[in-house]
Amino acid sequence: MKYDYLDRNLALEAVRVTELAALSSSMHMGRGNEKSADQAAVNAMRQFLNNLSISGTVVIGEGERDEAPMLYIGEKVGKGGPKIDIALDPLEGTTITAEGGENALSVLAMGEEGSFLHCPDIYMQKIAYGKNYEDLSIDPNEPSADIVRKFSKYSNISIENVVVCILDRPRHRELIKNVRSTGARIKLIPDGDVSAVIATSIEDSGIDIYMGTGGSPEGVLGAAALRCLGGKIYTKLVFDNDESLERSKDMGIKDKDFIYQTNDLAKGDVMFSATGVTDGTMLKGVYFKRNFATTHSVVMRSKTSTVRYIKANHNLSKKSIIQ
Ligand code: FBP
Repeated sequence: MKYDYLDRNLALEAVRVTELAALSSSMHMGRGNEKSADQAAVNAMRQFLNNLSISGTVVIGEGERDEAPMLYIGEKVGKGGPKIDIALDPLEGTTITAEGGENALSVLAMGEEGSFLHCPDIYMQKIAYGKNYEDLSIDPNEPSADIVRKFSKYSNISIENVVVCILDRPRHRELIKNVRSTGARIKLIPDGDVSAVIATSIEDSGIDIYMGTGGSPEGVLGAAALRCLGGKIYTKLVFDNDESLERSKDMGIKDKDFIYQTNDLAKGDVMFSATGVTDGTMLKGVYFKRNFATTHSVVMRSKTSTVRYIKANHNLSKKSIIQ
């Protein structure tokens, strides 16, 4: 079966996968238990992926094989069919969900074999900006203040109006200070940088640039979304110790200082699906009413740049939600 035929159909299957994972994890919203929320999403996503007619390999997943999680990197999923590589995060924003905060998503990206960067689950430095500015080239090794000034000049957005989104972490103290020194404004978020990267390409999100260090799986997923939406991301893996460097070498990373751009993280024709677990910049979360639950999803393909927003009502008496 040709991949281009496949990906049109798979894109709709992908939404059903993220819908089910979001429905399952949203049952745990605000209950203070991150593990249960995450496990529910993983169980649901894994069960649905195993029903698809693909020979899928998880390349960005819930962790590495020796940690024995479900949906680990290298795990095979599907009933058999064309070879598909899968990048997933059943619940992006476990703490957000446990606390009933904003911007938790269930996320899935798929592409032909070799589409996504193979890397361990370590930290990654990221700088992303949206589709209107994707012709702007920067040197991510330059000081962050210079990058923000360059963006302001190129975009014609006066520096006081530029909004930089940054994860609220002690490791970002210096970055925050440097960005503030330019006069730009900052939106600090508690978690969820896939959503923040996507927000740079969403009209009226109020976010112009995303900067900082987050997870490498989230970097690959953010890149997959930008391949479909437009936008640009620069990333660099962060090696805290020799062990993470060795793990990376085993996965084929040759140059530890390599700057991975959007196309290095997610190449070829990729599709991306996300369903809101809690309300967020791009998507509303799951709403339950009597016997129905409503989900809000986006599914997009890089090949056509089609972006579909799908609102679905699920009859809970006819659907079993994995909790
Ligand atoms: P989880 O859903 O796995 O908890 O990830 C949330 C997240 O905020 C990501 O969006 C981000 O990339 C990463 O955690 C940042 O890691 P840390 O919390 O260790 O700073």
